[in-house]
Amino acid sequence: MNPAQSQEQAAAERPRRVTTLRLRQMKQAGQPIVCLTAYDALMARLFDEVGVDVILVGDSLGNVFQGHETTLPVTLDEMIYHTKAVVRGVRRALVVTDMPFMSYQVSAEEALRNAGRIMKEGGAGAVKLEGGGEWIAELVLRMTSIGIPVMGHLGLTPQSIHQFGSYRARGTEPREAEQIFQDAQRLQEAGAFAIVLEKIPAELARRITAALSIPTIGIGAGVYCDGQVLVYTDMLGLTMEFRPRFVRRYENLAERIQQAVARYADDVRSRRFPSEEESY
Ligand code: KIV
Repeated sequence: MNPAQSQEQAAAERPRRVTTLRLRQMKQAGQPIVCLTAYDALMARLFDEVGVDVILVGDSLGNVFQGHETTLPVTLDEMIYHTKAVVRGVRRALVVTDMPFMSYQVSAEEALRNAGRIMKEGGAGAVKLEGGGEWIAELVLRMTSIGIPVMGHLGLTPQSIHQFGSYRARGTEPREAEQIFQDAQRLQEAGAFAIVLEKIPAELARRITAALSIPTIGIGAGVYCDGQVLVYTDMLGLTMEFRPRFVRRYENLAERIQQAVARYADDVRSRRFPSEEESY
């Protein structure tokens, strides 16, 4: 096989990248989009290999990895660092990175520069930002007009937790529901390629999903969204103290890890580890 042929074969064997266009096609085809957070290459590779479509380097990093109470302390440099790691583990999924608090709210210039860093230095395929007022829509328009794909995020937007005052569901009152509905339309018009809907009534998410041509990705927003996202540490049972009803636990890794580590500690203390076969 000559070098050109082997290059061709390698390209043929590489899985087809998920793109923003592909996500829209999935919506049109009624094919649910699977999204999960990841913060490092190890987990990102595992999720990518089983066909997760979108890997979100979420600023939930602040809660689950850094031990903060909110996402607010997470910095741009930290998001870029984790994005680089995730990108190294991914061959197929679209990697979307959260723009952290105050990295896009001060000015359009700063926001564009920071989004550019996430893509240039981090290697993300898109950025995500929270909110949907006029100013955010304008920002989305500017970003998408220079080739930065943007995912929106409406409903319970964790960066506004101090403004909201609680993690209760949003859009339960008609006026707020209408605002979220209009914001979703505004984000689509501004060029967003998808919108995360967090902790809003399923019926509101259904209305938004039906009205938009871009996909909606729900978290605590019911079954009618075009896709679903969860924070992986929640769905794998690593964060046991966090139990909102929208999290389905597929594993109880916290318990399993502790049991394994306790067995290891026991083996070390009783000198059952290492054995002769494990020695040189
Ligand atoms: O930061 C994050 O993980 C998120 C998801 C909860 C959607 O924004």
